[in-house]
Amino acid sequence: MTASCITQARPEVRALRSSKIREVANAALGRQDVLPFWFGEPDEPTPEVVRQAAIAALQAQQTFYVQTLGAPALREALARYLGGLHGRPVPLESVAVTSSGTTSLMLAVQALLNPGDRVVAVTPLWPNLVEMPKVLGAQVETVSLAFTGSGWQLDLQRLLDALTPGTRALLVNSPNNPTGWALPRAQQQAILAHCRRHGIWIVSDDVYQRLYYADRCAPSFLDIADAQDRVISCNSFSKAWLMTGWRLGWIVVPPPLLPEISKLIEYSTTCAPPFVQSAGCAALAHGEATIAHTVERLRRGRDHLQQGLQALPGIRPGAPAAGAMYTFFRLEGLSDSLAFCQRLVADAGLGLAPGVAFGPEGEGYLRWCYASSTERLDEGLRRLARFLAARPLVP
Ligand SMILES: Cc1ncc(COP(=O)(O)O)c(C=O)c1O
Repeated sequence: MTASCITQARPEVRALRSSKIREVANAALGRQDVLPFWFGEPDEPTPEVVRQAAIAALQAQQTFYVQTLGAPALREALARYLGGLHGRPVPLESVAVTSSGTTSLMLAVQALLNPGDRVVAVTPLWPNLVEMPKVLGAQVETVSLAFTGSGWQLDLQRLLDALTPGTRALLVNSPNNPTGWALPRAQQQAILAHCRRHGIWIVSDDVYQRLYYADRCAPSFLDIADAQDRVISCNSFSKAWLMTGWRLGWIVVPPPLLPEISKLIEYSTTCAPPFVQSAGCAALAHGEATIAHTVERLRRGRDHLQQGLQALPGIRPGAPAAGAMYTFFRLEGLSDSLAFCQRLVADAGLGLAPGVAFGPEGEGYLRWCYASSTERLDEGLRRLARFLAARPLVP
């Protein structure tokens, strides 16, 4: 073994992609003149009632380890909340509290994937979800959504054809980051039936399910799956309750899998912090008004940005997003979205995420997070317009 091998991580880890959004953002960190829309984060603070619950919990010395699967109060509140949301009981034996949506997804792939396992992901997609299975040595194949006149669409037959017998898992994020696409119920039913037939797991990233413009919740596999189905739902307090920095989430699994998830939590985080879990209880108890306000604000941001983008030359914003907080739009002639975003931030002080960060199928596109005031969106649009006018030839 050579000296360099001794200091190197596993090949699977070395092969992971680093974030191309970070590649753009890191160069501009600390620059006050940059208007950033590159990260997926609402720009409003966590509701007061949630912050006060954490403060009270700290004062009450909730500073010790708690149950691996989550403090009983939060687990029970989650089971009740999910039962109401999905219109069917979600047993306590299915639910674990985690230290974020990201953690839930990592737990899911750790529980399921062997080296060499084949998984299929619907893309363009938040890059973490495509990279996580690779940490385990799994092979990720992708089925790309299509950008059509009526928005981003899934070719169901292509996905079902890709879900061949022997495929271990499907990874799907709906509403989707970056496209705003949401999986319609009929397609969900067809996917569940197909996966049941072939014993394929469905890992559903549901972190944006409450940020949905047509209903209280986006169609979810938990609405239609039985407790014994091979369905795992990963979720988070980050987006709907404005709690990105708190690192709190949950996972719903078939009851026989929960003891395995418990071991993985034990060996990764031990448990989520108890005062953060108390904040989670307050979010579930008092958060509906915040969610309603956030969805309305996002709807305004989405429509405002859509109109503004439509007025710019060479931009095809597509149909408005069905959910989440992003517009993923095409810029005619764009062939290197990373270089474009780097120049955009350097020359115009505007921070967007390059489409290629979400997979090769995202090249030619830009992602704009519209969780922002219309005034800030307008300033961003002005900067983009000036930049495009000065540089008619995009890279
Ligand atoms: C699609 C998707 N899934 C999961 C997450 C993770 O959220 P968190 O780890 O903050 O709960 C994000 C965050 O941006 C996301 O966009």
